[in-house]
Amino acid sequence: MSNKKRALVVYKSKYGSTDGIAKTITKTLRGTGVTVMVSSDPDTAPSPKNFDVVVLGSAVYSSQWRQAMHAYCLAHYDDLVDNANVWLFSTGPVGKYDQLSTEYPDTVEMLMREGSPVRDHAVFKGALDSKKLNVFERAVTKIVRAEDGDYRNWENIKAWAQRIAGSVGE
Ligand SMILES: Cc1cc2nc3c(=O)[nH]c(=O)nc-3n(C[C@H](O)[C@H](O)[C@H](O)COP(=O)(O)O)c2cc1C
Repeated sequence: MSNKKRALVVYKSKYGSTDGIAKTITKTLRGTGVTVMVSSDPDTAPSPKNFDVVVLGSAVYSSQWRQAMHAYCLAHYDDLVDNANVWLFSTGPVGKYDQLSTEYPDTVEMLMREGSPVRDHAVFKGALDSKKLNVFERAVTKIVRAEDGDYRNWENIKAWAQRIAGSVGE
């Protein structure tokens, strides 16, 4: 049997920028020889049991992870807190912001409670294209004066994935 290390990446995007981030993480991990199973649909994603490392990520809307990602983390909570190698990322800030607002998404708070084995929570800048948004979303982005653009920092994302690769088998 192969002794290659196995990673699971589960994430939820709405307009695609988190997709690009998850794909870059996946590619970087694969480049280091890790076998990666990736799912963009938490409703059908496999259990996090029996993976050497688990990476969970979501786009942030109104300070929260997407509902399907939250539901996945609730459904698999015990296995996630038993797994000593879980990494989280949030895609959110756009424009001049580079941090989430002071409150972390409830899902991140839930998984990072005291004593939790979660290794890290990365916040990656996202992208905004107001042409894709619905009327409500466009109104919200106008109120907070969020500016269109792709602010993803690929070097940061790859460096973070390299850290994950370095942790596999520690
Ligand atoms: C209606 C709306 C609300 C948003 N709320 C937040 C927020 O609370 N915090 C944040 O950091 N980013 C927020 N964003 C920015 C998104 O997280 C960002 O555009 C992200 O890249 C979207 O990821 P996706 O393309 O994978 O859906 C919001 C964007 C929209 C359109």
